[in-house]
Amino acid sequence: MENMSNWSKTSWHNFPALQQPKWPDKQRYDEIVQTISELPPLVFAGEIRDLKSMLAKAVKGEAFLLQGGDCSEEFSRCTAPNIRETLKVLLQMAVVLTYAGNKPVVKVGRIAGQYAKPRSADMENVNGMEIPSYRGDMANSIEPDAEARIPDPARMLKGYHLSASTLNLLRAFTRGGFGSLHRVQAWNQEFVKQSPMGRSYERMAVQISNAIKFMETIGIETDIPRLKEVQFFTSHEALFLGYEQALTREDSITGGWYDCSAHMLWIGDRTRQLDGAHIEFLRGVRNPLGMKVGPNYDIDTILKIIERLNPENEAGRITLITRFGYRDIEKYLPPLLRAVKKSGQQVLWTCDPMHANTFKADSGHKTRDFENILSELRCFFELHWVEGTVPGGVHFELTGDDVTECIGGARQLSDAQLGQRYLTTCDPRLNAEQSLEMAFQIAEMIRSS
Ligand code: PEP
Ligand code: CO
Repeated sequence: MENMSNWSKTSWHNFPALQQPKWPDKQRYDEIVQTISELPPLVFAGEIRDLKSMLAKAVKGEAFLLQGGDCSEEFSRCTAPNIRETLKVLLQMAVVLTYAGNKPVVKVGRIAGQYAKPRSADMENVNGMEIPSYRGDMANSIEPDAEARIPDPARMLKGYHLSASTLNLLRAFTRGGFGSLHRVQAWNQEFVKQSPMGRSYERMAVQISNAIKFMETIGIETDIPRLKEVQFFTSHEALFLGYEQALTREDSITGGWYDCSAHMLWIGDRTRQLDGAHIEFLRGVRNPLGMKVGPNYDIDTILKIIERLNPENEAGRITLITRFGYRDIEKYLPPLLRAVKKSGQQVLWTCDPMHANTFKADSGHKTRDFENILSELRCFFELHWVEGTVPGGVHFELTGDDVTECIGGARQLSDAQLGQRYLTTCDPRLNAEQSLEMAFQIAEMIRSS
C-alpha cells in the first residue's frame, strides 16, 4: 500500500513537474499562490464525494458519464450567454443519453477552471515570429506578441475569480429551473425541427416526450424539484500545480484532503509520469481523477499509476479517458482493457474521441471530422462489448456556440467554411448542433446494444 504519511500538498515540489509556465518572478508567484490559498474553496468536499459515488455506479454500468466543454476556456469569453449555452447543450445531450441508455447520466463540464493548457513545444511560430507558446489564459495571453506571452501569475488569481463567477451562474441555472426536464425536451424538439437530419432524430425525441406525458398521465408530478434541478459538476486538467495546491483543503468532516478547485480533475497524456509531480500531487487528494491515455502508453506503467493513485481500489476514484484515434483504437484499446481487467482494478472507462483525431485542413485550420469522432466512439463501444468491459462515458470538446471548427455533421460543414466562425484558441470544438447530433448518434448505438 502507498504511504500517505509522506504526502503533503507540497510534496510534489520534490518531483519533476512538466508543462509548468516559467514564471519570471518567483516571489510574486509565491505571493499569488499564498493569496489563493487563503480564499474560499470553489467546491465543497461533500459534492466531490457525491460525484465519486455516482462515478462508482458508472463503473458498474449503472450510470453513464458525459464530460465536455471547451478545450481551453478564455477569460474574455466568461460571459452569461457562453456559460448558459454550454450548460444548455450538455443538458440536452444528457436527456437523450439518459433515455437511450436507460440510466442516469452524470454531467461534468470542462468548465469553471479549464484555463491551463499543456503544449507540445515551448516556443511556437506565429506569423514568422518565434514566441513562447500560449499555455492557457491562466498563464499567458493568446496575443501573438513575445511580451504578452510572458507568464503572469496574477492570471491565476483572475482564473480563480472567473471560475467562481462561472460556478456561481452554473449553480443558479441548475437550481433555478433552467435545466428542468420540460425545458430541455422543448429545446431538443426545436433542434430536431431545424436539423437537416431531423427525421432520423425525431423518433427518439417523440419517444422522450411520450415518456414524459406518460408519467404525467399516471399522476407522477413532473413539475417537482427533482425534475427541475439538475446536478452538474465541474472539471479541468490539473496542470498548474501551484494553483491546485492553493485550493487543496482539509475536509473538516472526514479529515481528508480535497482539491477544491473543481469536483473532478484529470491528468493529461503529457503529464502522467509515474514519478512526476502531477501523480505525486494527485495521489493525495481524494477527488475523482481522470487520466488521459493516448497511443504512447506502456501497460505496466499505467497499472502502476493506477495502483499509486488508488491503492484501496475504490470505484469512482479513477476514470481512464482513452484517446487513440479512429484509425488506431482497435490496436491500442483491447490490450489495455485486458490488462486492467486482469489486474482487478476498478476503473471507469470513457472515450475522448477528439484528441487523436485532429488534423490540419487544406485551409490551414486545425480541425476534426465529425465522422472520425463518431467512428472512434463506435469502435469504443464495440470493443468494450467484445471484451466484456463497461463503456461508461464520453468526453468531448464542445461549445454551445455556433462555431465552425470541426467539419462534417448534418450540415456537412466543409473545410472552406471553417474560417467563418473559427474561435477556439486551442483545439477545435463541436458546435451546439454537432454536439447534440453526436448525442443522438451515440443514443442509437447504445440502444441497439
Ligand atoms: C485536452 O483534453 O485538452 C488535452 C490536452 O488532452 P490530452 O492530454 O489527452 O492531450
Ligand atoms: Co484539447
